[in-house]
Amino acid sequence: MSNVKLAIIFYSMSGTNYQLAKWAKEGAEAQGAEVKVLKVEELAPQSAIEENEAWKATVEATSDVPVATSDDIEWADALIFSTPTRFGNLPSQMKQFLDMQGALWATGKTVNKVVSGMSSAQNPHGGQEATILSLYTSMMHWGAIIAAPGYSDGSIFAAGGNPYGTTVTVDQDGNMTEDAEEAVKHQAKRTVSVAEGVKNI
Ligand SMILES: Cc1cc2nc3c(=O)[nH]c(=O)nc-3n(C[C@H](O)[C@H](O)[C@H](O)COP(=O)(O)O)c2cc1C
Repeated sequence: MSNVKLAIIFYSMSGTNYQLAKWAKEGAEAQGAEVKVLKVEELAPQSAIEENEAWKATVEATSDVPVATSDDIEWADALIFSTPTRFGNLPSQMKQFLDMQGALWATGKTVNKVVSGMSSAQNPHGGQEATILSLYTSMMHWGAIIAAPGYSDGSIFAAGGNPYGTTVTVDQDGNMTEDAEEAVKHQAKRTVSVAEGVKNI
């Protein structure tokens, strides 16, 4: 049993990052962590969602998932963010969530959170690493401890070999083209293990 509390925070328009978040939950729970899966608040107008069947389906599929708050960040020892690429960057929904944590940051409550990132894009080189780096830049400002997977497990190679964090490519039909489940679970376990060490310093 671990004494680590992990918040997995995602944004997803067509379900990919929600799936990555659910795999991460399985991996972290297998490591004994207490886990919350949370979504960031949707900012897009309802009319835009209504025009897109996949988006509408994801909003419905995640309707029971709680929206992440500052209290969740404060609660957690470790954070895993899962986010699609938007023009090689974080979606505004995820950025807005990070930008709403100013009060937490100003009171030192983001320091020493152990953080890891996952991402997806439509193209194999569509900006997955850049998106994770954007996240990690903010995390450095938070004083968080970044637990990138590196090449710490063979499953990472099966998922495309991204040492920044697990990333996937999503085809036109919305399917992931990599076999990423084990890499995600490994990343989650590793994040929990690093957080255990940090917590017990
Ligand atoms: C506005 C917008 C910008 C996007 N920019 C990129 C991009 O720069 N590169 C890319 O490969 N895919 C891009 N995509 C595709 C998304 O990254 C892809 O649909 C997403 O990773 C799927 O994740 P999800 O199912 O969790 O929403 C973009 C999609 C949208 C809607």
